[in-house]
Amino acid sequence: MSSVKLCSVKLNDGFFMPMLGFGTSAPNKVPKSEVEEAVVRAIDVGYRHFDSAYLYLNEEEIGRAIRKKIADGSVKREDIFYTSKVWGTFLRPELVRTSLEISLSKLQLSYVDLYLIHIPIPLKPGEELFPKDEHGELIFDTVDLCATWEVECHPYLNQSKLLEFCKSQDIVLTAYAALGSNSGKEWLSKNNPVLLEDPVLSAIAARHRRTPAQVALRYQLQRGVVALAKSFNEERIRENFQVLDFQLTPEDMESLDSLNRNIRYFVDPLFSRHPDFPFSDEC
Ligand SMILES: NC(=O)c1ccc[n+]([C@@H]2O[C@H](COP(=O)([O-])OP(=O)(O)OC[C@H]3O[C@@H](n4cnc5c(N)ncnc54)[C@H](OP(=O)(O)O)[C@@H]3O)[C@@H](O)[C@H]2O)c1
Repeated sequence: MSSVKLCSVKLNDGFFMPMLGFGTSAPNKVPKSEVEEAVVRAIDVGYRHFDSAYLYLNEEEIGRAIRKKIADGSVKREDIFYTSKVWGTFLRPELVRTSLEISLSKLQLSYVDLYLIHIPIPLKPGEELFPKDEHGELIFDTVDLCATWEVECHPYLNQSKLLEFCKSQDIVLTAYAALGSNSGKEWLSKNNPVLLEDPVLSAIAARHRRTPAQVALRYQLQRGVVALAKSFNEERIRENFQVLDFQLTPEDMESLDSLNRNIRYFVDPLFSRHPDFPFSDEC
C-alpha cells in the first residue's frame, strides 16, 4: 500500500518497498522509549521503511512514533512501509490472523505493508499456512508467491546464490545484519570478526570519504538488495541514511564480494538443533 517510489523496489505484488529500511530490534535491556524516539528521528531524517515484528515487543512504541509524525503532518500513512512478522507460535492457519490483529492493535494502524513469516518453517506439500475468510478467499492480498525474503546478509555472508535464485523468481532479497549486527544481543555469535572493522571495507570507505557502515549498506543497494540498518543513535541514524548519493565502482563491488566467508552472526543454538535447520548449508 506504500506509494513511496523514491529509491524503492517494486515487489511482485505491485507495491513499492524503499530500498533502505530502519531496523528496530534491540536487546531487552534497552528501554522501549528509545525505539520510539529513534523512529521519530528516522522519519525526520527521511527513512520511510520500518522493520519490526511481534517478537520485538516494540510495536506499541513504533506505532506511536509513526502516528505522531502523521499527526504533525510530516508524513502520510501511505508514505510509510511497515513490516511486521508472525512468530512461530502463531503459525497454525487459524492463529495467523490473530497474530496480525495483535500487532495492528498495538500499532494502532489499520494495515501493515508486509507480513513476514519470522522463522523458516517446513511446510508439507499441500499444507496451507494462510487462513481463508468465510468465502474461501485468502485474507491477505497476495500469498501465491512470497514478495521478499529477509535473511542475514553482509559482505561476510553475501548470499550470492540465494540472491541469484531470488532474482530468477522475482523475489526481493532483504538484508538484515547488513552492518554485521554487533548489537550485544545474547544469541549472537561472539567469536566472529567485527564486520565494520574489516580492512578492505575500511579502505574502500576511506577512498570514498565514507564510513564502513555506509559502504556496507551501499554494497547491498547496488546489488539490488534491500538493506536494513538499526541504530538508535542520532548521528548514526543520519550517517546510515547518507548512502544514496555515492557510487561504488565495479572494482569496489568485486573486492567486497571477495570478503564472503560464510560467517553468520545469528546462530541461535535453540534452532540449530532442529532437524530441518536450514542455515548450515553453504550460501
Ligand atoms: N527477520 C529476522 O529474523 C531478523 C533478524 C535480525 C534482524 N532483523 C532486522 O534487521 C535489523 C538490522 O539487524 P541488526 O539490528 O541485528 O543489526 P545491524 O543493523 O547490522 O547492526 C546494528 C548494530 O550496529 C550499530 N550501528 C548502527 N549503525 C552504525 C554505524 N554507522 N557505525 C557503527 N555501528 C553502527 C548499532 O548500534 P547503535 O544503535 O548504538 O548505533 C547496533 O549495535 C534489526 O533491527 C531487525 O529489524 C530481522
